[in-house]
Amino acid sequence: MSYKKEIEKLNGKWQELENPELIEKQHQKGKLTARERVELLADPDSFVELDPFVETRFHILGLDQKKFPGDAVITGFAKINNRQVYLYSQDFSKMGGSLGEMHGQKIVKVIDLAAKTGCPVIGIIDSGGARIQEGISSLDGYAAIFKAQIRASGVVPQITVIAGPSAGGASYTPGLSDFVFMIEGISQMYITGPEVIKAVTGEKISFDELGGASVHGLKSGCAHFIFKSEKDCFLGVKKLLSFLPQNNLEDPPKQKGLFSEIFERENQRLLEIVPEDEKKGYDIKEVIEEIFDRGSFFEVQPGFAANSIVGLARLSGNVVGIVANQAKFMAGTLDIDSSDKVARFVRFCDAFNIPLINLVDTPGYLPGTDQEHRGIIRHGAKVLYAFAEASVPKISLILRKAFGGAYIALASRKLGQDVVITWPSAQIAAMGPEQAVKIIYKKEILESKDPKKLEKEKIQELKEFFLNPYQAAKLGQVDLVIHPKDTRTTLTKCLESLLNKRESKVARKHGNIPL
Ligand code: HXC
Repeated sequence: MSYKKEIEKLNGKWQELENPELIEKQHQKGKLTARERVELLADPDSFVELDPFVETRFHILGLDQKKFPGDAVITGFAKINNRQVYLYSQDFSKMGGSLGEMHGQKIVKVIDLAAKTGCPVIGIIDSGGARIQEGISSLDGYAAIFKAQIRASGVVPQITVIAGPSAGGASYTPGLSDFVFMIEGISQMYITGPEVIKAVTGEKISFDELGGASVHGLKSGCAHFIFKSEKDCFLGVKKLLSFLPQNNLEDPPKQKGLFSEIFERENQRLLEIVPEDEKKGYDIKEVIEEIFDRGSFFEVQPGFAANSIVGLARLSGNVVGIVANQAKFMAGTLDIDSSDKVARFVRFCDAFNIPLINLVDTPGYLPGTDQEHRGIIRHGAKVLYAFAEASVPKISLILRKAFGGAYIALASRKLGQDVVITWPSAQIAAMGPEQAVKIIYKKEILESKDPKKLEKEKIQELKEFFLNPYQAAKLGQVDLVIHPKDTRTTLTKCLESLLNKRESKVARKHGNIPL
């Protein structure tokens, strides 16, 4: 055996992996190739490819099909901003990136390695789903991936980028991931495609209307980040990673720098942003921008359930998860979708040691038959469960209203908030005074000579008695009442006091979060 000849053979095998015709075919679809995507994401020269010569075992099924070395997926490890990650990238130019037994086995290998070594795993999906020719083996391929993902859940961050179709079985990989990225005009994710839908229901629908980036970013809530181009999307993945620890045993990366002067920054502008008139809305994102490190807020699911805002930011260099009510949208009420959004985000932060800061201004859970009938009780309970169970530092700041169940969910020490801070404008009550008088003074108002006048007086009485932070402060349920200008410094001090928080849990198999 000639040593040199074998090396030449190996070089030839690597060349076979990249077919210029197929690369061109992919480019004509306006998409980057699987390899170009990896190169865009990884630090230069850091990617090491695993299993490039794995092939499908079609012959086992007695099928005569063209085989592709690598089996339509590139897998391996690399560094992103000098931190180790595992990744895979499906190759649509080969059998539509469809997933068979060996393709699935390659993906399972990198997920398992990521979990074992405590590194994030990033999957790039561009696939027609289960490889139809491989029958049950392709379904088992997915089953093995899902099992690996679930094993790795809460151990390492799992990020999925949809960069083409994500059809059928392919959609449950994003469905089981922590974060899903989509690209306008390129990504489509669905369980059953338009043709099947037409055959079953007669409905005619395009791929984009069914499962395009806007649908999942705005309506279904299945995508967390939407970008206009692949390049921007991969930059977004890098930005997200910059907030995350490598695994559940690490703390998120603290940004070191000259924070002392920033730390001292007063928040005078908050008084201009939040209107005196409690009936007036405002943009909570301006409040976030004013309090947290400038430009650090990275919003998660910005287009979905906009009445609640969630995202990652830094406070004097420390990574935090923010949960905030958006007063300018549906008055910041909590509904079914926003409950799901908040609960899932809280559980992610808790799993990966990211402290939580709530900015509370909400009249409560959204009333209405539609919400009741669709299960606001079941969904709202997720928020209670997620917060009560989370053992990371939890700080709540009440700006204006904290009524009813939403107070319990977002601002209650008894449910497990470590520190509750309020502005003097905070109002904590079981419900708004206008609704409360109709219940507790119903008889008196009915029997009164001037019901309107009495109602007004009683509302005023309740407002004066209840709608302030001092009832709760007297009971020790509000720890601090502060001037709004001191918000940033107070939050920083409280956060730093809680960073070494430890909480032990009762031994059990697992709790039963309402799903
Ligand atoms: C095998 C597939 C395939 C699949 C695509 N291809 N999907 N091969 N299994 N699932 C092949 C095509 O035959 C074609 O091969 C090549 O990939 C490119 O596909 P085109 O159709 O030419 O591309 P395009 O027009 O861009 O359409 C892309 C597409 C379409 C919309 C994704 O291919 C499609 O509808 N595929 C099926 C999607 C689907 O229903 N998947 C569900 C599978 S069942 P050639 O040789 O011509 O280049 C499943 C189980 C669910 O996933 C499990 C749930 C947990």
